[in-house]
Order: sequence, then C-alpha cells, then structure tokens
Amino acid sequence: MRGILLAGGTGSRLWPITRAVSKQLMPVFDKPMVYYPLSTLVMAGVSEVLVITTPEDRPQFQRLLGDGHPWGLRLEYAVQPEPRGIAQAFLIAEDFLAGAPAALILGDNIFHGVGLGRRLRDRGTVTGGRIFAYPVADPTAYGVVEFDPAGRVLSIEEKPAVPRSRYAVPGLYFYDGAVVDIARGLRPSARGELEISDVNAAYLERGQLHATLLDRGTAWLDTGTFDSLVQAAEFVRVIEERQSLKIGCVEEAAWRAGLIDEGQLRRLAEPLCKSGYGDYLLRLLDWEAQRHEQFADRLVPVAGR
Ligand code: TTP
Repeated sequence: MRGILLAGGTGSRLWPITRAVSKQLMPVFDKPMVYYPLSTLVMAGVSEVLVITTPEDRPQFQRLLGDGHPWGLRLEYAVQPEPRGIAQAFLIAEDFLAGAPAALILGDNIFHGVGLGRRLRDRGTVTGGRIFAYPVADPTAYGVVEFDPAGRVLSIEEKPAVPRSRYAVPGLYFYDGAVVDIARGLRPSARGELEISDVNAAYLERGQLHATLLDRGTAWLDTGTFDSLVQAAEFVRVIEERQSLKIGCVEEAAWRAGLIDEGQLRRLAEPLCKSGYGDYLLRLLDWEAQRHEQFADRLVPVAGR
C-alpha cells in the first residue's frame, strides 16, 4: 500500500498566518503539523508516501522532510496547482500509485490513541474502500457516515442538516487500486472541486465501502482554524508532558515499525538535542534497554529450572 499526504490548500481560515507559509508547516506544539499525519501513515504500515503541496510550498516541504531515507521511508513530491478538491490527489498520484492500493491522509488531521496503529494495520486486504467513523458533538459540520454492526456503510452525506448518525468521517481513507479510475470518472461539484465524498459514494454504490469505528480512546483533531490549532497544540503539550511520550514523532514511529534500527535512531537524535526532541529519542532507546533487562531478569529463573 502506498500513502498520499495531501498538504496543499489555501488555509484561508488561518489567514494572515498562512499567507506566506503552508498551514501544514505550522507548528503544533513541538513539531510541524505535517509530522502528525506522516507518523500516522507510518503507524499504519505505509513507508512510501507522495507528499502533495502547492507549487510555492514544495521547496519548504522538501527541506523539512527530504527523501525520507534517514527515516527508512521513501518520500516523493508532487504539486497541486490549484486546490481543486481532495479527490484530485488520486489523479496527481496516478503514476506514483501504479495500480497499488492507496492510503490518503489530509495534512491537517491529527490522530492519537492507544492501539490506533494496530487498528489501522488490521484493516485487512483492502477490497473497495475503508473509511473511519468518529463520534462528534455536531455532525452537521462534517461528512457523516451511517453503518451497520458489520461496518458496512449504509449512507454517507456531506454536511447534512439532519444527520443520520453522530459519526463524522475523518481525513484518512484506504482504497483499493480502482480509486484512480473512480477519481477519473468524477465531475467537479458545485464548488468546483473533485469531492472525496463522491469517491466514497462510488464505492458505496458497488457495495464496497466499509467503516471502522474510532472509539473514545482515540483523539481526532483538525487544525484548520485559530481555535482548533491552539487546542491541538495544547492537547499535544498536555499529553506529552503527562505521559512523557510524544505524539506524531516520525522518528519514533519509524523505529517502532522496524524501518530504522537503534543506530539510525541515535544518529537522528544527535542534531536535535538542543531542543529536547533528540533527548526524547535517546530516552526511548534507554527505556527499551531497561525493558530488555527487566525481561531478561524474569527469564532467568524460568531458564534455570
Ligand atoms: P480544507 O481545510 O478544507 O482547506 P484548506 O486547507 O485550503 O483551508 P481553508 O478552508 O482554511 O481555506 O482542507 C483540508 C486538508 O486538505 C488540508 O490539509 C489541505 C488539503 N487540501 C488540499 O491539499 N487540496 C485541496 O484541493 C483541498 C480541498 C484540501
């Protein structure tokens, strides 16, 4: 499965902040926003990612993320000249995908939760589409999904006045290799965009759209407004301080996924020690070593029996 990280858009709800800098490069507490969705893809088992940006922002993204090699990733870049809709990502990514299934994540979506990586990896072989369902207080502001106990999607509606469920659809989507053809068949909506909801509608029509519930143990934050950006930063700060574990740390996700080894993580940590970020990466290695020691202690009497 290949990943697409969609980080274009105008960010107009954050103007003037995002007039000169991409929204997805804005800080969310201690790291750039794009680290969060990138680490979610890595946790989902994706290591080849196409980063789609505006033409103007592309050099900064490349400066920040490079080719991904030091993280054990393969990152490529493409531009979206105008924000013509989320589903346009599949047309831009056609060559990159080369018929492979796709995981699309929006560059301003933050996910955090215990067992989230496992839940994302357990999606099974992707036949059709898999979206996620997240309970929200006011579904009318979102795409809303209705599904049966087996996770089969029954309906999906964009910003309904009278929602059929309280489940919003977050910005993370898994599709099989048919998605490029489906995107090619779409017509722009009234607002001139290729809509992701139309991609989902096409899979729904084929009876091939499934939803996975993200339960209350998972946090889903979006960061598109002044308030939500500050709330997301505060959320990350509080959790990180309380648990001494970072959210959205690409280096950690890559190491836990086995994409890089201890030596590579150590090398990544060194230039980042002044800010404390690198110290965190080194601490992960210490904790891991301690865990092994404890485990070894416990093994001794068993082995000696
Ligand atoms: P939005 O928040 O809908 O749009 P935006 O980022 O341009 O912000 P604003 O509404 O303030 O103008 O986009 C959600 C995410 O999807 C965001 O990460 C940007 C990305 N996106 C694109 O890259 N291209 C697009 O054509 C669209 C519609 C969104």
